[in-house]
Amino acid sequence: MAKTQVYCGMVVHSTRKDCLKILQNHAIGVKEGKIVFIEELKKFQQKVNEKDHEVIKIGKNGFLMPGMIDTHIHAPQYPNAGKGLDRGLLEWLTTYTFPTEAKFKDLEFAKSAYNRVVRRTLENGTTTACYYGTIHTEACLVLCDIIEENGQRALVGKVNMNANSPEYYIEESVDKSISETRKFVDDVLQKKYARVLPIITPRFAISCSQQLMDALGLLAIEKDLHVQTHISETKDECESVGKMYPDYEDYLDVYDKAGLIHGKTVLAHGIYLSEKERKKIKEKGASISHCPNSNLSIRSGIFNARQCLSEGIKVGLGTDVSGGYSPSILDAMRTAIHTSNMWAIKDPTHKPINHREAFMMATYGGSQALAIDHLCGNFEVGKEFDALLIKLDCPGSQIDIFEEDSLEDLVQKFIYLGDSRNIQKVFVKGEDVLQRSIAENGSQE
Ligand code: GUN
Ligand code: ZN
Repeated sequence: MAKTQVYCGMVVHSTRKDCLKILQNHAIGVKEGKIVFIEELKKFQQKVNEKDHEVIKIGKNGFLMPGMIDTHIHAPQYPNAGKGLDRGLLEWLTTYTFPTEAKFKDLEFAKSAYNRVVRRTLENGTTTACYYGTIHTEACLVLCDIIEENGQRALVGKVNMNANSPEYYIEESVDKSISETRKFVDDVLQKKYARVLPIITPRFAISCSQQLMDALGLLAIEKDLHVQTHISETKDECESVGKMYPDYEDYLDVYDKAGLIHGKTVLAHGIYLSEKERKKIKEKGASISHCPNSNLSIRSGIFNARQCLSEGIKVGLGTDVSGGYSPSILDAMRTAIHTSNMWAIKDPTHKPINHREAFMMATYGGSQALAIDHLCGNFEVGKEFDALLIKLDCPGSQIDIFEEDSLEDLVQKFIYLGDSRNIQKVFVKGEDVLQRSIAENGSQE
């Protein structure tokens, strides 16, 4: 019988009550990819035996944390990460993004780019990603295969768009868009991947007709699927949606009337949502993916994370590559804190989010936002073991530790100063997937 792997040392995670819970000298037992116990080291030491347990010591200046969750990333935009940030959203889409996404019709091109984005995000500690693909069904299926091969957990969406898009990158009809989406969903489900699920992905209200959104809403309900889309990211976009859909109450109502807003819906951005819209999002149990790097890089606006969190809306973090230039959720944590600080600079009574809340949104909050918190997001018994082994004093580390540093200081230093070099191991469902990725695909250098 397989031994229980037991990770011993400092453990950090978020719980329902605590954004940042630090457990010193603890033991986490993992069997068949699931957490079977979490207890004080002293208690575990009384029952440890070589036959049943394989003990792995986390060591000084290291800790275990849940894998990070990227609740919004465009896999086909990865070739553009770090360039083309000189236009606002709508111009940025037509100038850089649509031409790049159109290239994914070519499966060889898709394979190469998708391998790189999956490996890069894993290396940066993203154990779960909620991906947008493109309109190309076959290329999206290739993306799913690559994610599964590399061991990442993911939701993958074939993008729907049949309006206000260039001739070279648009779906020809509602029927075709729906039949391709059905094929994508059925193929993915039929493959019974261990970690990859399909997600319904209308690009945003501007690029989908009402008829298409209605049909997608029905499909999501018929098959009990997740839904992702963009909402209220820029003022120009909100204005266009208002003009396109004059008979609807607001932007959210366009999606809601199509049946797209429910407990498995994640809405990217949401910067300009009204109080009424936020209230409905909360009531319906939908969530927001806060993508701070993107919001500042393409100058969309300044999201108010404090407001949404205090209203009880589920909020996760997203990189939104390549509106956001960084594929790292550590970067998203830092930029979320800075964005929140901007509110506090303008209004000293505003309580900005801190490293604890950023950590929560990057892990547990992300799992709630994607409605997978029954599977992962923190270290509760029964959940799957998606985790990162962090070392602060590894070769190349940019973090210096001082004697007076508390345990929380170490975590805070990792959030602010850490990078992929400090992420020594990446586990998904208990498996060391970084090792697997390097072994199967060759060196990452
Ligand atoms: N809105 C519609 N499409 C996109 C996209 O690709 N990126 C971002 N940031 N917003 C969008
Ligand atoms: Zn996006």
